[in-house]
Amino acid sequence: MTRRAVVTATGRYLPEREVPNSWFSDELGLETSDAWIQSRTGVQTRRFVDREAGEATASMATEAARRCLASAGLTGADVDGILVATVTPDHFFPSTACLVQDALGAKGAYGWDTSAACSGFLFTLAQAAAMVRSGMARRLLVIGADTMSSIIDFEDRATCVIFGDGAGCFLVEGSDEPADGELLDFVMHTDGAGGDSLKMVAGGSRHPTTAQTVAANLHVVHQDGRTVFKHAVGRMGDVVTELLERNGLSSDDVKLAIPHQANLRIIQSIAKRQGWSMDRIAVTIDRWANTTAATLPTTLDWAVEEGRLERGDLVVFATFGAGFTWGAALMRW
Ligand code: COA
Repeated sequence: MTRRAVVTATGRYLPEREVPNSWFSDELGLETSDAWIQSRTGVQTRRFVDREAGEATASMATEAARRCLASAGLTGADVDGILVATVTPDHFFPSTACLVQDALGAKGAYGWDTSAACSGFLFTLAQAAAMVRSGMARRLLVIGADTMSSIIDFEDRATCVIFGDGAGCFLVEGSDEPADGELLDFVMHTDGAGGDSLKMVAGGSRHPTTAQTVAANLHVVHQDGRTVFKHAVGRMGDVVTELLERNGLSSDDVKLAIPHQANLRIIQSIAKRQGWSMDRIAVTIDRWANTTAATLPTTLDWAVEEGRLERGDLVVFATFGAGFTWGAALMRW
């Protein structure tokens, strides 16, 4: 008997605090404009946490998980494990997953964090799928959550305007029968040679935090935008083709594509290459910007709410991020 991995519920949390493009010029005094940001990235607005109210990655992750569990009629006590993808954990340790486990009262659950930047959710979902398929786990929460506002340089106008904060969650369960929401296949890649193009240099063991690392501005995202753009277009396009080919599918078979939301121009070029009209792509970059690991689960959750999927539809996820890391996943809704 083949055991299958199935997504049985989803949930998301976006902070209340909305920050429109005009905030960067009007409040921060950056030389930028709503017109530039919209035309070059597709972002209109984004959400940032309210740090004074105690919001950070674990609190967003917990709320997304609560909403996901509530929609399944379950509680934290019902899950075996909590896997959190993030590059902005509340702390290096304890992990964000441990904080979420405690906040949910998920007494019987283990948990850990994974780090694969914007590909973190897709990679962690693959890990969860393998765990439930093998019978190692019965029911897992898979969360993508990032507080990018905690690590962006608000003086770097090309980088700070593209990110937002948020959290999304899938409940992944094992099933012995074919079931809606089945995770059918994953393709994953990394190329560490691309690491220099998108990085946060200090705060780890190589460059521990010192007054000098802070003065040198090494605790924020440094990005070579053009290089990342070029690789994102090529590699996300390639990996979607690889996924479809190895499953004997054509792009026409896909009802909805959920690409990583880093730049609307990247999304449009992937759509063009696959021959997808934009109504077959889920786009949330306009309202939430790039929420890193939270992007794919929040976007699927939103698409479902919008009625974009019907039972049996094939969904393709595609992602690209720091590392470089990239991948694609196939799901039957
Ligand atoms: N407002 C106004 N002008 C800006 C600006 C802003 N916010 N940001 C950059 N510019 C200017 C630059 O200074 C440059 O000016 P110059 O020609 O006088 O030097 C010009 O716009 C073009 O800069 P460039 O960096 O080539 O812009 P771009 O069109 O590539 O857009 C990014 C920049 C970051 C939006 C784009 O490169 C991108 O989206 N890259 C991929 C990012 C990504 O996918 N990251 C995450 C992966 S997970």
